[in-house]
Order: sequence, then structure tokens, then C-alpha cells
Amino acid sequence: MQHEKIIILDFGGQYAHLIASRIRREQVLSEIHNPDEISLDYLASDAVKGIIFSGGPQSVYDADSPKVDNKIFELVKPILGICYGHQYMNYHLGGEVTPGNDDSREYGRATVKLKNLGTQELKNTDNNAPVHKFSSSQVVDCPLFKDIPPQSIFWMSHGDTVSTLPEGFVVAGSTDHCPNAAVYHPGKNFYGIQFHPEVTHSEYGSQVLKNFIEICDAKGDWTIDKWTWEKSAELKAKIGDKNIILFVSGGVDSTVSFAFLSKVIGKDRIKGIFVDTGLLRKGEVQYVMKSIQAIGADLTLMSEADRFLRNLKGAYDPEIKREIIGNTFLDVQRDYFAKHGLEDNSILAQGTIYPDTVETGNTKNAATIKTHHNRVPEIQKMIDAGLVIEPIADLYKDEVRALGEALGLPHELVWRHPFPGPGLGVRILCNEKSMANIPLIRGTMSKANQGVSYQILPIKSVGVQGDFRTYRHPAILWKELKNPRTQEPNLEDLEHTATRLINQNSEINRCLYPLGYAQPSPDCCSLGSGYLTPDRIQTLQRADDIVMKTLQEMGLYSDIWQFPVVLVPISFSSSQVSKFSSLTPQESIILRPINSTDVMSASVGKLPWAFFEKVTSEILKDPKISAVFLDITSKPPGTVEWE
Ligand code: XMP
Repeated sequence: MQHEKIIILDFGGQYAHLIASRIRREQVLSEIHNPDEISLDYLASDAVKGIIFSGGPQSVYDADSPKVDNKIFELVKPILGICYGHQYMNYHLGGEVTPGNDDSREYGRATVKLKNLGTQELKNTDNNAPVHKFSSSQVVDCPLFKDIPPQSIFWMSHGDTVSTLPEGFVVAGSTDHCPNAAVYHPGKNFYGIQFHPEVTHSEYGSQVLKNFIEICDAKGDWTIDKWTWEKSAELKAKIGDKNIILFVSGGVDSTVSFAFLSKVIGKDRIKGIFVDTGLLRKGEVQYVMKSIQAIGADLTLMSEADRFLRNLKGAYDPEIKREIIGNTFLDVQRDYFAKHGLEDNSILAQGTIYPDTVETGNTKNAATIKTHHNRVPEIQKMIDAGLVIEPIADLYKDEVRALGEALGLPHELVWRHPFPGPGLGVRILCNEKSMANIPLIRGTMSKANQGVSYQILPIKSVGVQGDFRTYRHPAILWKELKNPRTQEPNLEDLEHTATRLINQNSEINRCLYPLGYAQPSPDCCSLGSGYLTPDRIQTLQRADDIVMKTLQEMGLYSDIWQFPVVLVPISFSSSQVSKFSSLTPQESIILRPINSTDVMSASVGKLPWAFFEKVTSEILKDPKISAVFLDITSKPPGTVEWE
């Protein structure tokens, strides 16, 4: 069946997937393609109702910045340019883009003021335009902003800005730092926006995308029910009389894949294997075995913790740790196949989802690509030989969850917080060289933020600014308590202050709020050396378990999208009490609750203060823990995980 669709050209942004999943949420099929590989004939076909240019990390002035055939502007299809896509369209149609400076860079929330287009006179426009023809003096509202108030919050993440518009374009909206934040060409149906409508933190972002779909006149004919029906027939034909082997993780993707395949071919023909990497949460092995077996799966446990920890010995660089974990997982798979063979009429099934499929195959423009173990060369060879099926590879996470619900899986399994493949391996910061007695020097923010001081920590974590991953310092941010009645800090306020501080200081990409110290009023810190050892894993498992159990007990688990708990080898001490000794606790814990619908953007999970107090006092009972912090950074500029 030929579905009407909107094409997203991926200029390398973090958000191309998000745009695509948002469009699908409106039941319109979206596809992601590389701008330099897509054919104009394909784009010109009737099924393609509109085109979106995604954001991207580069400047239009970079020699190797991604490009698309400029004849795309002659296709008479609606085009929406977002961030880099907005700059690209304006630049290639004759406008000007100004490189970013301290005044123009914006990361995080910004108020977009829509122009009162009712009083704006439009110049004569292209008479051949397919829709929205206007006479020279006609007054209009920009259809992209239908049903959106004159002022609202949109998410910004950019350096460069469009400074001069091409002929025929008018301004539809501005922010304080970006006069041409939203522009459009009424005659040609071209729209450009500097902000990101696809992230949920843009208050009216989904309305902008709905409006674009309406402008494209695309039929909403993409539903999970229709997809399930079409896909079941396709899978049946592909699997034939073979049996299936599926490595499960307990996460939603592999569990839904298992349940879907069971429905298509029957559960007797599927064998599940669960690998214990030693980097799982406390009690996870028992939980996964019990819950997957409860849905009728034939599940075998492979206990491989020793092998993983042996291979990780001495590793401290986050990407090297990821690589070792990925490679060890493949070794385990290889050993399984060597022992049991795949030739006995079996094929391998993988719970790969759409972002993973497109990421490794297509996004050569992306600033950083996470290698996905479902797509390493050996697996790719098996895929090419027809020995692998990926039943949910067309779907986004929210579609996978909808499928899981439709298949009748328990709510608890379908809505588990996501857990990264490398597990606690990327939540335990490792460090090679120790440094003792580093004074905590306080910086103060500008006048507008009196009462706020901060201290930069001697460690680095990953963040995302613009479309680039950053590797910068976290800062402890301290602010006078604001609410005299409750004496509780206002989390929203702290999050905004953190965004301002990070925008002002290029050394920092993350802010922490101190929840509690083992020693009062510390004025210096010490950085220990630490690796992925059983001891440190247990320390984190204990803290993580306190957090997860307290979330459940207080009925808060489903209020939060994901909640990494992170261990860092840093300890704090007060010179008034004593300097560091062998008795000084060596580690600190960072709580990272986030809310998101898609994880491409996220805000700090606003849990009640009583929750933080409870978990902090429990965690500090561990004599190894020196401090507990709350990460108060939105994404961007922080990422969800610390590595
Ligand atoms: P970031 O840290 O990029 O995380 O904001 C976004 C989402 O991806 C998960 N994540 C990973 N998942 N392997 C995975 O399977 C990884 O290496 C990895 N790194 C991050 C993270 O938990 C969050 O849900």
C-alpha cells in the first residue's frame, strides 16, 4: 500500500528522528533520507506531500556542510527548514547567514514573539504559486502559526542566525536574540524556523508540525493497527518454516519483538537468550527472567559478568568502555552460535528500532554516531544473507509501546524506564589520575542573578550544544533558597539558572545542585582514580536501588521518563574538619531524573522535595559516599547520560 508521506532530509541534526516521529504521531508516514542521496524524481512523486530540512551541526559556510540539489526549490512542494535547514534554505535562496557570537547563541528555552502579520504588507509574490496566492496589499497570517498565541516558548539550539532574508520572504516571528527566528515565502509555501518545533519543550511545537502537515495536505493514513496487519503478513512470508533466536534485555524493544513474533509464528518457535553482563541493576536478572518467562517465553540465562569485567579492566575512556562492552556482547553471541549453531533452521531476530536502523546506515552527516551492536559488520553480513529479521525496525519508541499495549503485554513491562545497552558501564565515571585537595573556588554569576554562585568540578561529562556533543565540566550551582514558607528550592528556577550559566560559560555543560554532603560545608574536593570494578558497581547498584524503590513506594515511577543514577570518583571535604584521609568517602552520587517523550530533548524531573531528602539520607548512609547531587540541566545542553 502506498502511504502519503513527508520526507525529512537529515542534515545531521540530533533531531531528524524526532521530527519524523512527531509527523507519524499525526498518522502521516515520514521517512528520513540523506540530502545528497535522495533523487529529485522520488521527491517529485505524488506520494511525497512535503519536505522538511532538519537541523545540523555545521555552518552553511563550512566547505563540507551537507547540501541538496538546489532544484529541490523548483519542485512546487511545501518545504519547512528547521535550524540549519532554515539557514540552508535562506542562504541558498539568496539570503545571508551570520556566524554565531556570544549575543546570538541560544541554547534552551526562548520566547518567540510572532509578528503581527495582520499589519504587515506583503510584496507581490510568485503568481505560479500552488497555494496561498496574495495580491500586493493583502494582509495574511502565516499558516505555519495557525492557533498559536503571539508569544510562546520554543526550544533553541543554535549559533549561526539568518541575518538577511531572500527575496519574497517575510518575517513571521522573532526572539530577543534572533530577529529572523521564523520566516516564510507566502507564494512558494517555503517556511524557515530557527527553533525546534519537534521537541516537546517547545510549547506549541506539535501545533507547528500539524500546521505544516495541513499545508502539505497529507492524509493521515499511517496507524499502528494498519502497520501491524501489513507487517505480520510480511514477516510470515520471510520467516517461512524457520525458528527464531532472540537476545532479550528486559527492555521494551526486545520484549515487544518477542511478543509480536510469538503472535505471528507462535511462541514454540522462538528461543530467548538473556545475557547478564554484570552491569545490570540490582535484582534485574531475577526480574527479567521472571517477567519474560511469565509471558510464556523459552528463556535461557547466560551469566557473563566475569568476562565483561575482565575485558573492561583498566578502561576509563567512555567510548572505549562502550566499545569493549559492545564487542564482548558480540563475543558472547558468537560463542552461543559456535556452540548451538544457527544452521538448524533458525534465524536471528533483533529488537532494532527505526532510529538505530537509520542511524548507522544513513546519518553520515551526524556529528557523532553511536555504533549500535545490532549493525556491526558481522551482523550486517548475516542481515545481507537473510539470516536476521528485525520485526520493529520501522517503529519509533512510542510506536513500539503502542504495539506492546495492543499485544496485551503488562503495562509495567511496556512502560519500564529505558536502560542503556552498556548499562551501569556508562553510569560509573572512571578516572586514571587522582588529584587531592582541590580548593572549591566560587564564581558568581552576573548582576541579574545575584545570590547564585558556582564551583567548577575537575571532571568532564558529555553534553549536547547546537548539534554537537560537548565534553565539558559540570559546575555545582548554589542559590539562595527562594520560598520562605517551604524553604525548598524551586526546581524550575534552578533549571533556568543552570541554562543561563551554561550559555554564559563555555567551560560548563552541566549544573548540579547539592542535596547533601557527608561532611558539612566542604571547601575542597578530591578526585580519585577509579575503574569498573565489582566494588564500584555494587556501590552504584545500592544507590540506584534506593532511588528506584523510593520512586515506586512514593508512587512516582511513572511521573518520570528515565532516572539515571551516576557514580563519580569525587569526594568533598571541609578544611575546618580535616583534610582527606583514608576515612574520607571516595565517591559521589548524581541523581538525573528527566522528563521527556522522546529523549532528544529533556527537562529535569520535578519530583517532590521530600523524595530527594529521603533518597539522599539513605544514600549517604553508605560510608563510601561523600555527596549526593541533583543534575539540574535540561537536554540540551546536557545529555541524559553522563557519558
Ligand atoms: P543521551 O545520553 O544521548 O541519551 O541523552 C539518550 C538516550 O539514549 C540512551 N543511551 C544509550 N542507549 N546504548 C544504548 O543502548 C548507549 O550507548 C547509550 N547511551 C545513551 C540513554 O539512556 C537515553 O535513554
